[in-house]
Amino acid sequence: MKPDHIAIETLSKHLGEEVTLRGWLYNKRSSKGLHFVVLRDGTGLCQCVVNEEQVDAASWEAASEATQESSLELKGTIRADERQVGGIEMQVTAAKMYQKAEEYPITPKEHGVDFLMNNRHLWLRSRRQWAILRIRNSVVMSIHNFFQERGFLQMDAPILTGTAVEGTSTLFEMEYFGRPAYLTQSGQLHGEAMAMAFGKIYTFGPTFRAEKSKTRRHLTEFWMIEPEMAFYDLEATMELAEEMLSRIVSDALRDCQTELEVLERDQEPLRRSIGTYPRVTYSEAVDILHSRKTADMVRDKIASTEEEKAALEAEREAGKAAYGQAKKWEKRKIDAREIEIAVRLNDIEEELRNLPKWLESAQNFEWGTDFGGSDETLITWHFDRPIIVHRFPHEFKAFYMKRDPEDDRLALGMDVLAPEGYGEIVGGGERATDLEFLQAQVRKHGLPEEAFTWYFDLRRYGSVPHAGYGLGLERTVTWICGIHHLRETIPFARTLDRLYP
Ligand code: 4AD
Ligand code: MG
Repeated sequence: MKPDHIAIETLSKHLGEEVTLRGWLYNKRSSKGLHFVVLRDGTGLCQCVVNEEQVDAASWEAASEATQESSLELKGTIRADERQVGGIEMQVTAAKMYQKAEEYPITPKEHGVDFLMNNRHLWLRSRRQWAILRIRNSVVMSIHNFFQERGFLQMDAPILTGTAVEGTSTLFEMEYFGRPAYLTQSGQLHGEAMAMAFGKIYTFGPTFRAEKSKTRRHLTEFWMIEPEMAFYDLEATMELAEEMLSRIVSDALRDCQTELEVLERDQEPLRRSIGTYPRVTYSEAVDILHSRKTADMVRDKIASTEEEKAALEAEREAGKAAYGQAKKWEKRKIDAREIEIAVRLNDIEEELRNLPKWLESAQNFEWGTDFGGSDETLITWHFDRPIIVHRFPHEFKAFYMKRDPEDDRLALGMDVLAPEGYGEIVGGGERATDLEFLQAQVRKHGLPEEAFTWYFDLRRYGSVPHAGYGLGLERTVTWICGIHHLRETIPFARTLDRLYP
């Protein structure tokens, strides 16, 4: 039999009823004869009032004993109370404890990010992680709905592969029954085969890159969504990416208001990201990097970051000064805020170290080289919504890219850069269709031709213009959440120095 408890998020439909909740103790305040237990069940929080005079002795003892994260069953009547989280409160009639939690390691005092990442299996229970991972769920569902409604076939590309797709420097190699194999960097090539079989397809799966640098944008295991469409050109592909992102953003704004509020996400930039996005050529983007305006923007940013730092430090000092006289619940609030401040100050230190370097590299940027993360960030500062950069020099692009018929120096690639400094979330473009050209490119990139025999067949048997792109799920969620680092957008992040938990 399925358990009979109901979800906290549905409580407003049960006003006046006697119901059962099951979950974990998020917080507890007590006074004589009363416990105010805030219960967490994964769908929301609910304040549950346990009155010694209204419950039996065993229930009272359970509520009295319960520590942070102890697991509980609470029965009681639901009533409206505007002052409470969710505007609802439970008057408890019976309480039962499943397990009394040991002293919980994540306390509302200062924790470094490393400590929190080492305790990721527990950190997932916090309010902020709740918000982020629910937004991830919304983004996943939007993507499936978007493509399914448009007649795309979802396909699963192999994870074990025999070749590189996106350059050989980030391959995870393994031994496969005595020969080398790799974890896939992208499902695109197999996606192309499926597009020739089904017209329009999309992959939704894990991809792997041995990223040897620590950045806030790189995971070694991340989820990519790769649509591939027969008979689409570069323009059509840019339009599809724009429509897909608009859909993701508008669904998140509609379905994740509570989550966005928990994250204190400024929603204005998201609202502006529904619609059409400016198209910017690579060459125009290079001009932006060299512009006077970019230099001014970086200097302004340094000044405003210094101000933010000073304000946060002052807030922390004020918290410390008030601590002695603060009530217990006020102390918790100060402690919780101190964690946020510490995390932010950490990032600010990094930003202040980086900004002068970013400016220098933008000013010295050479046409013909690839944008770095900081270049993308600076370019996005000039726009108030996502932009699509297209037509890159082919030298630093993948072997499969089609050349621009108007300018042979360029490849028909495109990247969508998310605003507010987030940078690339989508990369894609039109594919080369000519067999000889493609064979020459594979050789030029030092890739083993025999591994691509099947791929070349796609250009032998009914080759057609086609195009597609890859959307990085974690980078997209990072942007929608408005958070700094993508490690929080996946339940268990894998990076250069993290394989635990
Ligand atoms: O630009 P990329 O390398 O493109 C491809 O892999 C193409 N084969 C896609 C295609 O045309 N079908 O990667 C696509 C996206 C990036 O824009 C970024 O959002 C994400 O994948 N990405 C990463 N996300 C997290 N960590 C990493 N190490 C990532 N590398 C790429
Ligand atoms: Mg890319």
